[in-house]
Amino acid sequence: MATNKTFTMLKPDAVEAGNTGAILEKINSAGFRIAAMVQTQLSRNDAEQFYAIHKERPFFGELVDYMTSGPIVAAILEKENAVSDFRTLIGATNPEEAAEGTIRKLYAKSISANAIHGSDSDENAEIEGNFFFSTRSRY
Ligand code: RTP
Ligand code: MG
Repeated sequence: MATNKTFTMLKPDAVEAGNTGAILEKINSAGFRIAAMVQTQLSRNDAEQFYAIHKERPFFGELVDYMTSGPIVAAILEKENAVSDFRTLIGATNPEEAAEGTIRKLYAKSISANAIHGSDSDENAEIEGNFFFSTRSRY
């Protein structure tokens, strides 16, 4: 059975551009409930840990530079079929390939500055949510 939780981050370009409210409105309108939310700024260590799966990729340094460049908004979202429905709502990684009406089509600037993160599996949704919101977390 699909979980009812996913994890998202509004990335520095979206927060810097003042799009937090508009994006949260789209998320709510699509039927997601915000179970936890915080605005904070990632340290290099945070970003390297969060995106550790990509550490061998050529864009890793650029990704860490970008994700630490300004505040982000992290949230746990609840909805039936949350992981898959949220990936549909945010659209393709590259905004040029994102479907009309998706958050990345509307708000992403480039493949690097692509406005928003969404967990890609139930397992990662759990890990990523705990990264920010476990009881031992400084957030
Ligand atoms: P995310 O994890 O942030 O939700 O993005 P995603 O699943 O759609 O894409 P993923 O493959 O997990 O890549 C993570 C982030 O790395 C940046 N990226 N840059 N320059 C490039 O070719 C490239 N490819 C990926 C993107 O910002 C992507 O969101
Ligand atoms: Mg990903």
